[in-house]
Amino acid sequence: MSAGSRDAPAGPSPDFWQERFASHRTPWDRGEVNPALEPLIAQGLFPAGARVLVPGCGAGHEVARLAAAGCRVLAVDYAPAAVALTRERLARAGLVAEVIEADLLAWTPPAPLDGVWEQACLCALHPDHWVAYATRLAGWMAPGGTLALLAVQAEREGRREGLVEGPPYHCDINAMRALFSASAWTWPKPPYRGRTHPSGFAELQIVLVRAGAYNIV
Ligand SMILES: C[S@@+](CC[C@H](N)C(=O)[O-])C[C@H]1O[C@@H](n2cnc3c(N)ncnc32)[C@H](O)[C@@H]1O
Repeated sequence: MSAGSRDAPAGPSPDFWQERFASHRTPWDRGEVNPALEPLIAQGLFPAGARVLVPGCGAGHEVARLAAAGCRVLAVDYAPAAVALTRERLARAGLVAEVIEADLLAWTPPAPLDGVWEQACLCALHPDHWVAYATRLAGWMAPGGTLALLAVQAEREGRREGLVEGPPYHCDINAMRALFSASAWTWPKPPYRGRTHPSGFAELQIVLVRAGAYNIV
């Protein structure tokens, strides 16, 4: 992992993630579709035809499920292994999605998005990049679009003292409120549903709705 320095951007590099996939050290991959997704599809939050982004798609379980639901899915990841795994999964299932190898801090979607499935991508980015990433997400989303945020609770011993950092970087609820501000997003009332990931970290599920005007970044 590259540390924050003048020469390198803060946080993990594409090579860091590529190496994790290559060495099969992917504890974030639960090996199946996140059970949180099914009820949201059933509620109509990701309807057929919706243009849905899966940022940092990893092995692509949710990409395939959303494609099976009839969404027009854009899956973005900058690790070539993640892109390959997602493409293989889609091909095996006879499903179609656009899988793009790109850095989310540089890429821009070709058209406004109706939905985003944000699962363990924010927590993979160094917090130095959070404002830029959240600003981009807000700019890409059509008014009324759905952002399903699975905020990884990576609280652990030594984090507050700066002894452990990430990834995963802890997605504290107050940090989420500041990043996805109420001026741009409609927030549901708490409490937010938490679900423990097999890796031991909990994910808080927060479904936000984009308010205001579309403004591509
Ligand atoms: C912790 S993994 C999560 C993968 C998947 N969302 C899941 O939950 O199984 C983070 C993923 O985000 C990707 N990623 C991290 N930073 C990225 C960036 N700036 N642009 C594109 N992909 C990125 C990594 O390559 C990795 O596949």
